[in-house]
Parts: sequence; structure tokens; C-alpha cells
Amino acid sequence: MRKYLMAGNWKMNKTIPEAVALSQQLCNYYNRDWDKVDVVLCVPAIDIKAVHTVLDFDKTDIELGAQNVHQEPSGAYTGEISIPMIKEAGCTYCIVGHSERREYFAETDETVNLKVKALVINDVNAIVCVGESLNIRDNDRHLEFVTAQVRAALAGLDADDLSKIVIAYEPIWAIGTGRTATPEQAEEVCAAIRATLADAFNADAACGVRVLYGGSMNVGNVESLLSMPNIDGGLIGGASLDANSFKQLIEAAAHASEE
Ligand code: 13P
Repeated sequence: MRKYLMAGNWKMNKTIPEAVALSQQLCNYYNRDWDKVDVVLCVPAIDIKAVHTVLDFDKTDIELGAQNVHQEPSGAYTGEISIPMIKEAGCTYCIVGHSERREYFAETDETVNLKVKALVINDVNAIVCVGESLNIRDNDRHLEFVTAQVRAALAGLDADDLSKIVIAYEPIWAIGTGRTATPEQAEEVCAAIRATLADAFNADAACGVRVLYGGSMNVGNVESLLSMPNIDGGLIGGASLDANSFKQLIEAAAHASEE
């Protein structure tokens, strides 16, 4: 059985004091029920240390993630941060290849693959984002497009490495738009992603990988999305910026895991 993973992606939101306040509120809400779910906060780089201090002090099992990283361990890469840096600061996860990074920061399947490989080698869990534009969906090419992104991101990995991989299916047309994919649309792609993993690696390894849905996940749609057999949690933007709404999503996942 795969454990649900609920990951908040704060994107470029929250100053250090705001990040401390939000993570403290979440720690106050934390209870043993949350242990049925893995919870990760993917925060801006500048907030990592402060949020880690809060999570560590409160002894919750909430984990910490970065939103991007450079593949090289150190060097002349002005403005970048490395995997040793995020690890030392307390991150056990890192988002890779979010559609906003692909669109605004010229990330390609090749750079995504380099980052994924570097994270796996360094024992940091990679949340690999894939997803199609509206144009691709309207042309009914979404399955072909997304499964090719998955293959490219994971090229060169072994089946054993999949234990460090989470895939997040985020249709670009559903991100921040309030227009969620229907559970059936999301399930179709998440199932195709798992079939691709089984084909590229093996069925056992594919069965263990968490495939998340992301794109306007909220209190109103979380239950129906998580009821789908191949959706193992969420990568949540807007609704993770408010402690009460993120708490409700985590509790919905805890509840879904009992069914
Ligand atoms: P929203 O939940 O705000 O649509 O963002 C989804 C997302 O991009 C998470 O990475």
C-alpha cells in the first residue's frame, strides 16, 4: 500500500517571519492522525532554515523540501543553491521541473534529468513535475506528452532508484486557475504514468512510486481526486498557503487512507 503524500508548494510566497508563522500554525494543528500521511512543505530557499527550526523544535513528522536545486555540488553558479546546501539545512525532498520553471526559467527535460539523478545519488527525494498545456490536451496528445516527460526525467536511473522518486502530474491549465482536472482526467494520466514506469523499470518498482495530482487541489475536490486508484496525494499551491485549508487537505488524505 502506498502512503498518501501531501506536499505544499509555497512557490514565491512567505517572508521568513510569515514562513515561521505558517509552519508554527501547522505544527499546532498536527496530531497523530497526520501520521497516516506523509506531509512535506516545499518552501522558498530563504525560508528553509527557519522552517526547519520550527519543525524540529515541535518534533512533528512534517518534512521539508526545496523547490529547485542545481545539479552540481558547488561552483561558480551565481544565484543557485546546491543539494548539499538544502540537505544540510534539513530538506529531505526537492521539487524538480515544475512547469513554472520549465516555462519561465528555460528548464528542459535534460536539465530535469540531471537534477533528478543528482538528487537520487545524494539520497534526497525528488518530486518530479510533469504536465501538458491546454493546447496539447485539446489536441489529445496529453498521454503521449506526459509519458515522454516521465521517461526523459528518469533516463539512466535503475529500478532501485524509484524509491526516491515521486511523480507529480500537474496539468498546466489547472495550475492556479481554479479549473481542476476531473478525477477521471487525472486518473487517466496518473495510470499512464504508472504503466510507463512499469515498462521502463518493472511492475513492482512502479507499484511503489507515489503519483501525485497538482492543480487547484482544494477542500472541495480533494476527496474525489484521492479516491482514484493511481492518485497517491497532492502537490498543492494556493491551498497550502493557509494553515487551515492545508490542514483540511491533510485530514482528507488521512481519512481517505482508512478506506
Ligand atoms: P495551485 O494548487 O495553486 O493550482 O498550484 C499547483 C501547483 O503548481 C503546485 O506545484
